[in-house]
Amino acid sequence: MIVAPVSADDDVLRVEHIAKSFGPVTALRDVSLHLKKGEVLGLLGDNGAGKSTLIKTICGFQKQDSGQMWLKGQPYEPKSVEQARTLGVDVVYQDLALIDELSVYQNMFLCREERRSRLPFLDRRRMKREARAALNEIGIHLPRLDVPVARLSGGQRQSIAVARGVYSEADILLLDEPLAAMGAKEGAMILELIARLKAEGELSMIMILHNYVHVLESCDRVNMIVDGVIALDKPTAETSLEELTEIVVDEYRRARLAAQAQEAADAAAEASAPAAE
Ligand SMILES: Nc1ncnc2c1ncn2[C@@H]1O[C@H](COP(=O)(O)OP(=O)(O)O)[C@@H](O)[C@H]1O
Ligand SMILES: [Mg+2]
Repeated sequence: MIVAPVSADDDVLRVEHIAKSFGPVTALRDVSLHLKKGEVLGLLGDNGAGKSTLIKTICGFQKQDSGQMWLKGQPYEPKSVEQARTLGVDVVYQDLALIDELSVYQNMFLCREERRSRLPFLDRRRMKREARAALNEIGIHLPRLDVPVARLSGGQRQSIAVARGVYSEADILLLDEPLAAMGAKEGAMILELIARLKAEGELSMIMILHNYVHVLESCDRVNMIVDGVIALDKPTAETSLEELTEIVVDEYRRARLAAQAQEAADAAAEASAPAAE
């Protein structure tokens, strides 16, 4: 039986008991989390912990095997990324979703055409102007916006993807390693932009960041996925680099012990097996 969770009024998103497997691989076992309006939630976890899988579930890219999601108190079952976007949930993927052959400004407006369906066509000059303003505001200075994005650096491409997400009029923005391909300077600009958006208090974000220092600086709260469940949920003010690192060290320790136990069991089974005739 599915019961609507007792939700705080300011929870914009609730994820309840989400599970997702890919064949024999269980990416998410039982994940529950919530997000308040204007909150920046940092999502942590080892490589392969299921962070991207969770983001892809929330953004409508793929469906969970079981579990429920709630958007502003309503059941939330996005059938596609486009549908999620119209409901106010937008995503910047880890594996970028820019189209190489299209120009910078065309990429910035990708998937937004239907929003402006009342306009007979999208005015190129206006798109360029708006794209330029959006990028300037983030502090990304590209000499030309009509070049194919294939010619840009990884960091520049990532900036465009982030700018597109930020200016998408979303209520909830999901950022999967937005600093991954960036140098320190570009990364700092994105973190600054996130801080500014946080100060405005309108946009809610779930953000996967590799660097714990960035997480502690930029996020209001952290959730860590271990073994397919949320193993830690704390305000950043109540945790520390030491605590986050300790959880990861513990995880490695347990994984190593489990691997050793398995090896010993395999060896024992082999030793007791009847000799081949
Ligand atoms: N489309 C897929 N097909 C098969 N396995 C997948 C797929 N997506 C993710 N996985 C597996 O699920 C697990 C979690 O992956 P992912 O969510 O990408 O982790 P993270 O983003 O935390 O590094 C990994 O073992 C990964 O190999
Ligand atoms: Mg990932």
